Amino acid sequence: MFSPLCSLPFILFTLFFLSIHAQTLIHGTCKVCSQQDPTVNYQFCTTSLEAASGSRHADVRGLGKISLRLTHTNVSDTRSHIKNLLKKKASSTQRMRLDDCFELYSNAVTDIKHAMKSYKSKHYEEVNVLISSVMDAATTCENGFKEKRNVVSPLTKRNNVTFELCGIGLSIIHILRVGTK
Ligand SMILES: *[C@@H]1O[C@H](CO)[C@@H](O)[C@H](O)[C@H]1NC(C)=O
Ligand SMILES: *[C@@H]1O[C@H](CO)[C@@H](O)[C@H](O)[C@H]1NC(C)=O
Repeated sequence: MFSPLCSLPFILFTLFFLSIHAQTLIHGTCKVCSQQDPTVNYQFCTTSLEAASGSRHADVRGLGKISLRLTHTNVSDTRSHIKNLLKKKASSTQRMRLDDCFELYSNAVTDIKHAMKSYKSKHYEEVNVLISSVMDAATTCENGFKEKRNVVSPLTKRNNVTFELCGIGLSIIHILRVGTK
């Protein structure tokens, strides 16, 4: 059967069974992720994972855990950031959008915490659902601003980072599930 992922088994073999340099593992994993899901940016993936503590000695499952941890930190930070923005002056339309985003990110923090627990117990299907909902939160938050003219999203970059980190998490879970079949 032909598919764009036909070389995946080989790459997986390389990732799982050869003892390779940690940096190669991060690069290889990010390569598979960006092939599986074109919205995963290879450069962003390698930069984020390499900068994370503990990633040098992590295996693929460890990298998945790290991606969830990064998402958690990021999402929590963005929630606080929105809280601060709400303390400042804002137009009523912008305030309405920010209120929505605050609620979305509050739920996202809960979801990602739950996802980390499910990941620990290898309930990958549940982790998938939870990460997808965090991803949706970022998209919904960003789209809220797009609906209104004259309102510029102050969260574009942060929403994108959330989206990207979730994409990495989902892809790594896909690797783990395909690899354990
Ligand atoms: C969020 O993720 C981005 C990209 O990895 C990183 O540059 C930024 O420092 C992170 N922020 C927090 C608070 O973790
Ligand atoms: C989101 O971030 C990625 C990685 O930094 C970048 O490639 C992409 O263009 C960004 N997308 C948007 C809509 O800003």
